[in-house]
Amino acid sequence: MTPSQDPNRVLIFDTTLRDGEQSPGISLNAAEKLEIAQQLARLGVDIIEAGFPISSPGDFEAVQGIARQVEGPVIAGLARAHAADIDAAWGALKDAARPRIHTFISTSDIHIKHQLQSTREDVKGQARAAVAHAKSYVEDVEFSPMDATRADVEFTAEVLQIAIDEGATTINIPDTVGYTVPHEYTAFLTRLYELVPDLRKVVLSVHCHDDLGLAVANSLAGLLAGARQVECAVNGIGERAGNAAIEEIIMLLATRQAELGFTTGANTREIARTSRVVSRLTGYPVAPNKAVIGRNAFAHESGIHQDGVLKERSTYEIMDAASVGLESNQLVLGKHSGRHALQQALSELGIEVSGQTLNTAFKRFKEIADKKKQVTAMDLEALVTDELREDAAAGYSLEWFDVESSSRRPPHARVAVRSPEGEELEGSFGGDGPIDAIFRAINAATGVDARLREFHIGAVTGGQDALGETSIVVEVDGHTGSGQGVSTDIVDAAARAYVRALSNAARRRDHEGAEPQLSATP
Ligand code: KIV
Ligand code: ZN
Repeated sequence: MTPSQDPNRVLIFDTTLRDGEQSPGISLNAAEKLEIAQQLARLGVDIIEAGFPISSPGDFEAVQGIARQVEGPVIAGLARAHAADIDAAWGALKDAARPRIHTFISTSDIHIKHQLQSTREDVKGQARAAVAHAKSYVEDVEFSPMDATRADVEFTAEVLQIAIDEGATTINIPDTVGYTVPHEYTAFLTRLYELVPDLRKVVLSVHCHDDLGLAVANSLAGLLAGARQVECAVNGIGERAGNAAIEEIIMLLATRQAELGFTTGANTREIARTSRVVSRLTGYPVAPNKAVIGRNAFAHESGIHQDGVLKERSTYEIMDAASVGLESNQLVLGKHSGRHALQQALSELGIEVSGQTLNTAFKRFKEIADKKKQVTAMDLEALVTDELREDAAAGYSLEWFDVESSSRRPPHARVAVRSPEGEELEGSFGGDGPIDAIFRAINAATGVDARLREFHIGAVTGGQDALGETSIVVEVDGHTGSGQGVSTDIVDAAARAYVRALSNAARRRDHEGAEPQLSATP
């Protein structure tokens, strides 16, 4: 149902792949972005902002791939208020069943003067031209007055009227620097409705950053003021402190439905999995106490709380772990399970594999099932998101490693890595610790001078024989790449993750060269 049919239906606009991807250290390749977009479609978001097509050839290709392959949601692409950006956005989006161009220009004087080095009159002209140009390609056009919450409300209203006159169908009011507070945001939107009565003919949207920890509260204030689209990102990632977290928005609206009256099209049971996929692929871990999806979000530590929950769950729980998909950890396969059982179990997880990909997944499943008594749904999911990307990435892959480590001698590592051309390359190194030695031996084997930027280790599930999971970000000649690895052996997981991160960063360097940084002015 669309907002025009149901006045309380809130559209969920996910910007994980655009604003979220602007978080420091995140660099997803096209295959990884597609995987996230497919999971967002399973989550039931209404709009996926798939990227910023003019920003790099890689982003263009990723948006195009998502536009062509992801069914269900509207696929949006971002464009500054400039013809070349809008042309690129349309080029990437045109094969989508339901494309949207999202164009923006700042309306705050601080941005107009210092960043755009322009005038209010010029901003009005650029907004008019941009929306008209986008509208010449597609019916569904979104316009955002950037830094609106620090802008003059009368001037912003003038710009919005122009955008609506030119055919914008969604007007988004960004709190770009996370500065506003709920009652102020409500007042700003209420005033805009007074100044621009035509706002009632379009969808009003909110886009709140979390610099003061108010992104979700401000988004809710916006909904209460009349907005019916919320822009948010999985795990709250995004510029600086991030965007409103999609899982918090969805569960807030679901849990307090009786009070607030809003509905969404989200399948809440896909929340936990979406969070895991994004965390794994971005290398951004989720804090244990993170609302809704943190490992402790449903854990009760104090005796009084445990006692209460044992007697009656609702004493200390306002949501059910099952409703966000956090219970999906039952045993699914054992060491005697065959290829067909694996294929079926994966299919139940929404992951379709066949042919060579199934063979690869099966080989890794067997290796793990030999070492681990129970292979759970979460293990399978981690393993498969880890392994299947290897095919898509076609970079270096780890063949084997030897590492000698002792508290009395410096560690020494030898590795063999297969190059994208199929050649086996060997390297060795003595490092500060066994993992450092392996990483440097991988650099020696590949001849790529990768520098470690981030390194996270976690366990996929609990228990002594849990699969270890590592996320790594490296930098190669100024280009970052992330990689993940999953194994029963944490050193093996780290080595796999490092080789993938190095491949991704090297591929970016080779494809993008010395790419200029985008500025606000084209
Ligand atoms: O925060 C912001 O202003 C943005 C716009 C591009 C919508 O991300
Ligand atoms: Zn933003």
